[in-house]
Amino acid sequence: MIVSLINLKGGVGKTTSCIALATAAARDGKEVVVLDADPQGSATFWADNAEDNGEELPFAVDAANPATVKRAAKKFKGDPGRWAFIDCPPNGAILDAAQDASDFVIVPTGTGNADLVKTAETVKTMEANGRPYAVLLTRVLTNTNGFKAAQENLAAGGISYFDTAIRQKEDLKGYFGLPFGSALYGYDDVYSELREALNGR
Ligand SMILES: Nc1ncnc2c1ncn2[C@@H]1O[C@H](COP(=O)(O)OP(=O)(O)OP(=O)(O)O)[C@@H](O)[C@H]1O
Ligand SMILES: [Mg+2]
Repeated sequence: MIVSLINLKGGVGKTTSCIALATAAARDGKEVVVLDADPQGSATFWADNAEDNGEELPFAVDAANPATVKRAAKKFKGDPGRWAFIDCPPNGAILDAAQDASDFVIVPTGTGNADLVKTAETVKTMEANGRPYAVLLTRVLTNTNGFKAAQENLAAGGISYFDTAIRQKEDLKGYFGLPFGSALYGYDDVYSELREALNGR
């Protein structure tokens, strides 16, 4: 399977979601790789830092470009035993390549209007091309009007989204550059929903 993390907005939780979901898949016994398609190299930094601390991530993180992403599609697309998660930058030619290669696209977003406007723009091309996708609300403060309003905003736009939302958690920031501990902060539930969306594969 190939799953891309895409949003035209920066700082919405793409890299965090990518590493957490790859961890969930590895713990589920899948063969997993993360493809770092972002020139910022945040996912690569995450893996290198973890290794330097003597605590390797449970999967490899490889630098990617449109050519390697296309090649990865041959190996991973549609294969339920092997999963590639592509951490994308907010713009560039790689976004088309990643969407083309993917079985599913996850669009992480915050609940603020600035994020939601860009999210709607991100989703528009996916819907136009009939690509399977779902929006993932991240850094949410549950029991707030903002969270409810964001869900209503997505529903009103006919935008598909995960039932699970990831809460704003200070300790989640601390994992940047380290492997996750036993808690996956809801990403294990997102992974289950993702597998359901892929017909249980
Ligand atoms: N649920 C959360 N709770 C608290 N902080 C979070 C959460 N998710 C992500 N963050 C923090 O928010 C910041 C942005 O997250 P992240 O790097 O995953 O976003 P991104 O979309 O990959 O950003 P970029 O566009 O720069 O690649 C990071 O400092 C990260 O640790
Ligand atoms: Mg990132």
